[in-house]
Amino acid sequence: EEGEELKRMSASTTLGPQNPNLGSAGAPPDYSEAKIVVAMVGLPARGKSYLSNKLMRYLRWLEYDVRVFNVGQMRRALAKAKLKESGVREDHTATFFDHNNPTAFKLRTQMAEECLEQLIGWLKRGGNVGIHDATNSSISRRKAIAERVAKEPGLKLVFLESVCTDPAVIAANIAVKVSSGDPDYASMSPEAAKADFLNRIKNYEANYETVDADGEEKHLAYCKILDVGRSVVVNGFSGYLESRIAFFLMNLHLTPRNIYLSRHGESQFNVEGKIGGDANLSERGWKYAEALPQLVKDAVGDAPLTVWHSTLKRTGQTSSHLEYPKLAWKSLDELDAGVCDGMTYEEIEKYYPEDAEARDEDKFMYRYRGGESYRDVVVRLEPIIMELERQENILIVAHQAIIRCLYAYLHALAQDDLPYLKIPLHTLICLTPRAYGCDEKRYKAPIEAVDTHRGRVTARDTDVQAPPAPAKEQTIEEAMNAPPPSQRRPGA
Ligand code: F6P
Repeated sequence: EEGEELKRMSASTTLGPQNPNLGSAGAPPDYSEAKIVVAMVGLPARGKSYLSNKLMRYLRWLEYDVRVFNVGQMRRALAKAKLKESGVREDHTATFFDHNNPTAFKLRTQMAEECLEQLIGWLKRGGNVGIHDATNSSISRRKAIAERVAKEPGLKLVFLESVCTDPAVIAANIAVKVSSGDPDYASMSPEAAKADFLNRIKNYEANYETVDADGEEKHLAYCKILDVGRSVVVNGFSGYLESRIAFFLMNLHLTPRNIYLSRHGESQFNVEGKIGGDANLSERGWKYAEALPQLVKDAVGDAPLTVWHSTLKRTGQTSSHLEYPKLAWKSLDELDAGVCDGMTYEEIEKYYPEDAEARDEDKFMYRYRGGESYRDVVVRLEPIIMELERQENILIVAHQAIIRCLYAYLHALAQDDLPYLKIPLHTLICLTPRAYGCDEKRYKAPIEAVDTHRGRVTARDTDVQAPPAPAKEQTIEEAMNAPPPSQRRPGA
């Protein structure tokens, strides 16, 4: 009887191959008109690369095509050839950054210009946001950048300055630089590297001019961030994309913290193999809810924590024994399976074969009839992402598709892999944001649960199991030769 009922439902809702919803969540957004040069400004060790990469990850999440063009990498790549031409020995020590070293000064200027040229070329070929990751620390350098960009119709320019006065932040940034295998310091001891890097900073300080110190640069669009999170000055920003950039930057902070992710405990629907719905926890699910406070305590210790869960019963039940402030978010509800809500995957294959096929073909874009696609979920999670950036320790208790999306944002994973990520039940994932991504630790509760993961049906790829190494800055060569941005699906 249930089968007949489903058949009737299927017959009344199948629109045939013309169904505009089938396998499509609409075309990807058209951002072809959005073209911005973001030129970083700031002394070394002020978190410019950190900010560049965070901004890139966020804007890619919004499906903009973004690249960081790092002048330091270009310097290393081109140094050999250029220095040879000019007959100077290759040198990346502080001497090279001395403003009284005219040959090196000329070369540095040329490299910054060359990097900007590559960035502009890439924007003209279709990119949306090119981030010029350099110190750009003098008025004359910024003037040259502004004049060059002004020659390109349709390109906007914003400066993004990071000013740091907090010695602890500067010291932490220096430590990252000298201990992260930075190629400039590959052959030096950590002590020598640190001493040299401090000298490099001193050399820059000698000529550093903060943006618009005396109103001379009022005509420029700029965003000045003081001690990431303390205060932000925004001047001359206009338009949607620029506003999003400013808003994102206003929400960032550098306070060390962890983000914890957990699916709800096993639900009765999980046991029956059904998707969606608003079922209660199973017996084993309740066991997980009871075990969760200790699991969280093991991971969090006595640090303060806030718990976010969805408005569905199973996440509220899972959080019910946790004694922390809690907030229920509708945006954390599971991907809406529309007419397939409450069915098993086998039933979907039987009654909506075209849909099952379309989903297997493109799981990220496929939108359930009357429901959502992963892409829709990504869009609805944007306020969560923004709020997450503002917060300190947060535990999110949500659902398979939701956790996949958040996890993919935090690890900067590709859209195509996102719907296949393995996020098992009864497991607490701890992510610690670092300079270029997140460290990860998983805490598994010793409570059995069904496996709700379904691998790819088409043999075109393998399942993603472990997060890749944290995203690093791209080299100029990588940036120039890379396929479309990693978060966009191949061919999209
Ligand atoms: O099976 C549990 C569940 O949370 C369903 O409610 C949801 O539809 C599904 O996972 C999402 O996973 P997938 O996208 O792999 O079908």
